[in-house]
Amino acid sequence: MGTLTNKRILLGITGGIAAYKSADLARRLRDAGAEVRVVMTRTAQDFITPLTMQAVSGSPVHVEMVSAESKTGMEHIELARWADAVLVAPASADFLARLAQGRADDLLTALCLATSAPVAVAPAMNTQMWTNPATQANMLTLRRRAVHVFGPGEGDLACGEVGAGRLLEPVELVTLTAGLFATGELDGLTVLVTAGPTWEAIDPVRGITNKSSGKMGYAVAEAAAAAGAKVILVSGPTALPDPERMQIIRVTSTQEMHDAVHAHVREAHIFIGVAAVADYRPVESAPQKLKKGAERIMLDLVKNPDILASVAALERKPFTVGFAAETDNIEQNARQKLTEKRLDLVCANRVGDGLGFESDTNSLLLIDASGITELPAAAKDKLARALIHHISGKYHVAQERQQQAEGRA
Ligand code: CTP
Repeated sequence: MGTLTNKRILLGITGGIAAYKSADLARRLRDAGAEVRVVMTRTAQDFITPLTMQAVSGSPVHVEMVSAESKTGMEHIELARWADAVLVAPASADFLARLAQGRADDLLTALCLATSAPVAVAPAMNTQMWTNPATQANMLTLRRRAVHVFGPGEGDLACGEVGAGRLLEPVELVTLTAGLFATGELDGLTVLVTAGPTWEAIDPVRGITNKSSGKMGYAVAEAAAAAGAKVILVSGPTALPDPERMQIIRVTSTQEMHDAVHAHVREAHIFIGVAAVADYRPVESAPQKLKKGAERIMLDLVKNPDILASVAALERKPFTVGFAAETDNIEQNARQKLTEKRLDLVCANRVGDGLGFESDTNSLLLIDASGITELPAAAKDKLARALIHHISGKYHVAQERQQQAEGRA
């Protein structure tokens, strides 16, 4: 797997001779697994054609604020929401000045203002222009606003001068872009995640299950791995491929999921129960396919163990996070699960009406003893990253509290 697998990179190109390197950059970003869309300023087109960038990025190139193809006339908002990261390479002195001023006079500056994704710029210009106090003041402003600055490098410049102002090489830019996602927040920690539905057999071909696709649980496991954790994913039956960079244990029934979780929970610092576990199973599972007969039959069900509650009840329990899929009274029902199951955090989401289980987007209410945080609707992978960021913060605070309490004792 590449370092940028599943990441959506919006590549901005501004006017400068180094724009010829942007084609190689787009290709290398895709080689690293990223999906790439390109936005060019008007002057960038004097240096490299949109057709070239379309060919290497595999998508149409965006230039105009309002294009004839756009269905909504809000291309800057659509692209701003689409991106997991914005990388402007090369970033000209003029573009950096406009970004520092917060202007929105073309598609690229407008979407940089509108995005909540990290923005990185790779400056490229003549040394005098780079060292000019005006440019340096703009860079200070951008850095203070958490814009990531990649380079510039030093060396021979296109203008014939030697010095700072050279666009970093595409390979270096790909590594730095991957670094935007590697937060290291969970370095050294083990995270145990359950995902997907469970299947409770009635006979060899029939069973009780639910509509969970496993996408949210897998996204949470991937986000934890991207944040540096060692991840153990216990997955019910899903159609999803095994994610890389983690240990995967495939199970079928709730009892199997329970046993797999308890076989590994002692290693885990954090447990996240995302699986949509079947609460009941048939008392007996027939060894042969049941034949039809009577007009009415009864299915005798017995309660399954509650995996999440059993983890939270352990004497040395990990930081325990549960999910609450609700159709109504979301906050109230979720709070009840938080207290009854003795969780550290509960993530509530609305299901039904096309939301939740089968969809690619989701929104979450994160509830713990100290309050509520809302993560607005987003693609599940983006939401999972925001969730892992939140969990990591809460975990570290809980650890500090525990250490202080132990110090006092
Ligand atoms: N869960 C679990 N084991 C079960 C049932 C649920 O680990 N046997 C976990 C789920 O993974 C989820 C949380 O508990 O993190 C909430 O699941 P949910 O089914 O919404 O809650 P229940 O406690 O089953 O309550 P109800 O179905 O009545 O809403």
